[in-house]
Amino acid sequence: MCGIFAYLNFCVPKKRKEILDKLIKGLQRLEYRGYDSAGIGVDGGNDIEKNEQSTILIKKRGKVINLQEEIQGREDLNFDLEFDSHLGIAHTRWATHGVPNNVNSHPQRSDSNNEFVVVHNGIITNYKDIKKFLVGKGFEFESDTDTEVIAKLVKYMYDTRENDSISFRELVEGTVQQLEGAFAVVFKSTKFPGQAVASRRGSPLLIGIASKSKLSTDHIPILYSKGAGKNEGGSTVTGNNQDALHNANSTSSFQPANGDGQVEYFFASDASAIIEHTNRVIFMEDDDVAAVTDGCLSLHRIRRSVDESSTRQVQTLQMEIQQIMRGNYSTFMQKEIFEQPESVVNTMRGRINFDDNKVHLGGLKQHINELKRCRRLIFIACGTSYHSAMATRQLMEELTELPVMVELASDFLDRKTPIFRDDVCFFISQSGETADTLMALRYCKGRGALTVGITNVVGSSISRETDCGVHINAGPEIGVASTKAYTSQFIALVMFGLMMCEDRISMQQRRADIIKGLKDLPDKIKEVLKLDEEVHSLAQELYQQKSVLIMGRGYNFATCLEGALKVKELTYMHSEGILAGELKHGPLALVDKAMPIIMIIMKDGTYTKCQNALQQVVARMGRPILLCEQGDTLSQKEAHRVMELPGIVDCLSGLLTVIPLQLLSFHIAVLKGCDVDCPRNLAKSVTVE
Ligand code: F6R
Repeated sequence: MCGIFAYLNFCVPKKRKEILDKLIKGLQRLEYRGYDSAGIGVDGGNDIEKNEQSTILIKKRGKVINLQEEIQGREDLNFDLEFDSHLGIAHTRWATHGVPNNVNSHPQRSDSNNEFVVVHNGIITNYKDIKKFLVGKGFEFESDTDTEVIAKLVKYMYDTRENDSISFRELVEGTVQQLEGAFAVVFKSTKFPGQAVASRRGSPLLIGIASKSKLSTDHIPILYSKGAGKNEGGSTVTGNNQDALHNANSTSSFQPANGDGQVEYFFASDASAIIEHTNRVIFMEDDDVAAVTDGCLSLHRIRRSVDESSTRQVQTLQMEIQQIMRGNYSTFMQKEIFEQPESVVNTMRGRINFDDNKVHLGGLKQHINELKRCRRLIFIACGTSYHSAMATRQLMEELTELPVMVELASDFLDRKTPIFRDDVCFFISQSGETADTLMALRYCKGRGALTVGITNVVGSSISRETDCGVHINAGPEIGVASTKAYTSQFIALVMFGLMMCEDRISMQQRRADIIKGLKDLPDKIKEVLKLDEEVHSLAQELYQQKSVLIMGRGYNFATCLEGALKVKELTYMHSEGILAGELKHGPLALVDKAMPIIMIIMKDGTYTKCQNALQQVVARMGRPILLCEQGDTLSQKEAHRVMELPGIVDCLSGLLTVIPLQLLSFHIAVLKGCDVDCPRNLAKSVTVE
């Protein structure tokens, strides 16, 4: 939900072209977070000798490529102009307030001189109040965004400052204290050239550090602003500014070994934009303020709360650049679908011992007794992640013998669902940043429940704020439509169920069957992927239809919901996942010979009932497209089209049946000319409620 990228080079001379290229590349990596419009803010630089700073803003409606073309066509820009030190900020937008157009794009600015400019991800809920206040002070607004108030408020703070030596960081601290809602922000100002100030609350932001010199510590102390309590002042991490170093905690500050002070900083909404420059990152926490002044990075907080960590760790990312490249695939989504034989192995790696059938989830180890003694399990998520919980609910009830509730995060919050201290609440989220899920986590934490995160993004808010959890290790998922994260979330939950019944003798045969199924899974997924051509031909038959129904029951009901979601979001075609048991309670009225109906029938406990549903459809002249097990001639007799899947233990069949539907939505989207990786109106990481 909007992507922020900023690049600061200190004592590392760069031509304007190189800076612009870096900013554009950063935005392209983050484009999946929003692609309504994009913009950058860079130094004018022409009047530096006169000590007159200026900021150039270039903003363009549409995808990053439009911005790139706009920049390339700007004849007034001297691309060879060199900057010894420079801050560039950039943004790709998913519109919340104000339609996508050039003016509403970010950076937003304080005034026509671009004195203060800001890029923002999130929503400022009290922006109307702030706007009213600023209009009363004579400010004129040009955009319909909530963000513009931030740029204007910081200018107001500057114009009305009592102390001329007030720092950029202090101005930003004063500004963000007035904001309600969610934000990650990076500021640039002509009044503070070469400086960057960033902050976050509720939206992700991380800092990358690239320097030839080593950091002397991996734990950077947080400094508290005046009046906030202990440790006031500034603590530098890197750079060569003597004043800043003077303030630093000597055991934690970094001084460049070669003394040249060369350093580059990156601010980004996620690591995929940073990894090609550096793997050394700091994940900012809510209410952190980071400032770079004269090449020195310092981390601050305005207030101190109980039990908070007084340091931020400089972490080394394990991500590889290849993981975020598309390779030979036409889209990231296609790549991610075809990656599933490997991604499911990565989810299981080191966790399942296929020799003795033991399951080891290190992230839950310390809480195993609480988990086993709990009153109920509550799975909370949105979208595809919610479907992964639906897909495993029946198995979870069987393996744990506990009541299992599956909740959509937004509805869970709307209902103010009662939560107790002996509940265990799971928060399932690929991005680990989804606002509804994060709010639900905070709600459950506040009521004393044990919280468990099932996330893909290491260092994400949900993975950090939960008591314990499992990383699904599916690797970066860039396509907006979730595919490999779904199968990995599914497996992570199955592994949890297996761990919970490890000691139960009566469960051993069932456990062994499931573990065998997991072992065989990668090969079976490969087999299913071979159906790609057949699915493509089905897509050719369906792509001009208005609607497609997807029916199933039991372990495969979640596949129907997930398949329908994929079709909707990628192809803009109506699709509905229908529980076959509900057919006669209404949906049967939709059935005729023209309505495309996909039916999933696997040889599990619901097989006979699925046969009944099949007969009901055929009796109404329906022409079912069947996803069934290899050799199921009984079902195939009635079908208009058949796709045969390998058999697998019943509770894992959803891991196979979902794949033809992922492929189907992909092929229909391509045939309809839809943008597969960036479906309209959507964004990957939904950090607003
Ligand atoms: C659909 C899709 C969304 C997400 C949902 C939750 O393909 O990707 O429905 O599943 O927005 O996102 P996460 O899992 O990041 O919490």
